[in-house]
Amino acid sequence: MTEPVTLRVDNSVAIITIENPPVNALSHAVRAGLSDKIEIAVADETAKAIVLRAEGRTFPAGADVREFGRPREAPILSDVCALLEDCSKPTIAAVHGSALGGGFELALACHYRVAQKAARFGLPEVKLGVLPGGGGTQRLPRIVGAVVALDLMLTGKPLGAQTALDLGVADLVVEANLDTAAMTLAGQLIANGGATRPTRDRSEGLQDPGGFVNAVAARREKVKSDPLPSVARIVDCIEAAQILPFDAGIAMERAAFDDCEASAEANAMRHAFFAERRASKIPELEGATLRPIKSIGVVGAGTMGSGIAISCLDAGFPVVLVERDQDALDRGVQRIVANYDKSVDKGRIDTATGVERLARLTSTTSMHELAPVDLIIEAVFEDEQVKRTVFTQLDTVMKPGAILATNTSYLDIDTLAATISRPQDVVGYHFFSPAHIMKLLEVVVGDQTDPNVVATGFDLARKLRKVPVRASVADGFIGNRVLASYRLAADFMLEDGASPAQIDAAMRAYGFPIGPYQVLDMAGLDISWARRKRLAASRAPEDRYVAIGDKICEQGWFGQKAGRGYYIHDQAGTPVENPDVLAIIEAERRSKGVALRAFSQQEIQQRCVFAMANEGARLVSEGVALRPSDVDVVLLYGYGFPRYRGGPMMAADQAGLLTVKNALINWQSEEPRFWVPSPLFDELIKNGRSFGDL
Ligand code: COA
Repeated sequence: MTEPVTLRVDNSVAIITIENPPVNALSHAVRAGLSDKIEIAVADETAKAIVLRAEGRTFPAGADVREFGRPREAPILSDVCALLEDCSKPTIAAVHGSALGGGFELALACHYRVAQKAARFGLPEVKLGVLPGGGGTQRLPRIVGAVVALDLMLTGKPLGAQTALDLGVADLVVEANLDTAAMTLAGQLIANGGATRPTRDRSEGLQDPGGFVNAVAARREKVKSDPLPSVARIVDCIEAAQILPFDAGIAMERAAFDDCEASAEANAMRHAFFAERRASKIPELEGATLRPIKSIGVVGAGTMGSGIAISCLDAGFPVVLVERDQDALDRGVQRIVANYDKSVDKGRIDTATGVERLARLTSTTSMHELAPVDLIIEAVFEDEQVKRTVFTQLDTVMKPGAILATNTSYLDIDTLAATISRPQDVVGYHFFSPAHIMKLLEVVVGDQTDPNVVATGFDLARKLRKVPVRASVADGFIGNRVLASYRLAADFMLEDGASPAQIDAAMRAYGFPIGPYQVLDMAGLDISWARRKRLAASRAPEDRYVAIGDKICEQGWFGQKAGRGYYIHDQAGTPVENPDVLAIIEAERRSKGVALRAFSQQEIQQRCVFAMANEGARLVSEGVALRPSDVDVVLLYGYGFPRYRGGPMMAADQAGLLTVKNALINWQSEEPRFWVPSPLFDELIKNGRSFGDL
């Protein structure tokens, strides 16, 4: 195997190159290689300066996340950074691609930074539940001050090269020929006497001590109830950059990093990071020939259709938007125009970009305009009969080999595909609302879907900047099936003694942005009512059925849009509990003779999360989801499951599968079928394994 770090001397400059594909992560081998080569370069009298650069697509994109959570082998990154900074010769980082996390910290430890124009600098550690551990919390504030350092470390969002230059983080930005620029700078530094410029000695960012203190205090106040331990520790470390000597600040950062790395939250966030990448590894990609997608048609210009069209326009595709009548079409186009107006107003895109995106939109009431299109996404009303009619029409206009994707949340795509002459071209795309913002895309594979169509869907999802997850046909696919179990678990508690507000509060305390009944009010209670009606015939008579939702719907209280649902939504104030709903709940309890009981916050959380994990296990056993981590990705990206909990399957792993199974068995006395543990629990428990091992 070739060495991940190499050294050569050229023109009195030691050039140290990192090559560890795909993203030059700073694994132990890289850190050891760097340490060796830096020492050799320092000792080499012919070398008067050091350039640190990387091969491949990027400067190091961070520590090797796979090494997190295990004992770290020396040298640790902080030591490598110290070697670079303490070096007696000027050190220059030549940065291209994404200098993230430890990569940015390495660059910060160099005395100078030259960057390619498209390069980005970021400290995304907070997204992995940790903080910069290679001296970033001490070095960056010395250059940029507290406000920028806090922003970078608490949001994890990267800086562009030009901003880095403006802030003094980069010393030079070049369009091209990065290596030449770095060598030229090295030559100039040597010619000027070879002075070093350790970042630890810089103080531009510390010039306004009062401003620094205030920025830290304001941020501390803002994040005081953040559940992620690393957030408060980042603020502490940045504060230390001003008040402690550099070495003491580094020691403090190290201790904070070690504590955070070992936390359950960081473990869950690492899981989320890898789960997202694993989800795009599907069997259909093996040997696939992708179908070329150059243009996209969207049928249906409602909220979903317009959102999907925006998503496709944003990704650079020409889009043909089709609606049945001109009024509905005009409303859809208006929605799209308003979206771009807003993006321009908010400065997210410039006017020219907005104009260019809209120029790629064709709107029409004629299906025939879809004839040349490579992929059609049907997003008409969620009703099998309506969709069938559209499918039949599309079958007559679509060109051979065009893909027909149906945006459905529940419907059986095999039944739909069977109605046309090309079932192999049909695939399900379950977008989440608002479709141009939500990252999740469930790609639903039918019995007859051509594997190349599935592979093309995954490729397209990447272009649309979505996180795709493969699902097989099942009512509600992955997400809505898990959601249905979550709601059932909540409904049982509602009937047995909890209130909607109490359940919502418990799930918010768990980390969801809003609780299940708030979601119902937002989405419209009629949608889940329609599903319950649709499934009524197939429901086993012995299953426990909670009719509270139906009774609320019978009043026409469909949630926010009706002004009333589980809560009363007045125009002005925050929603308040709906006393009439509490009366309905009371009446239901009385009519069923329920023996009321109290639920603690923890029990509410456990019942909801364990119900989701159990449903997830069933989906894996049935082959609807490929693996437990896919279930987690769906819940994280589509349903607001808190990332620092990793998803329901991860939460079950962290609770211990035996504990979860015993809880499920315990609750079976109340509802024998719903709470029956998936056989996957026993299978894993008896082999000492967890969902994460699958
Ligand atoms: N450690 C280990 N592996 C990493 C990694 C890291 N820091 N960053 C990326 N990888 C791996 C991915 O798991 C993926 O592996 P796979 O091909 O086996 O699935 C591969 O590198 C490519 O990553 P991917 O994210 O799919 O590529 P991309 O081109 O879309 O994005 C980055 C590249 C660098 C922007 C992106 O990978 C990223 O943001 N990485 C994380 C950076 C980070 O958090 N660093 C701080 C660590 S403390």
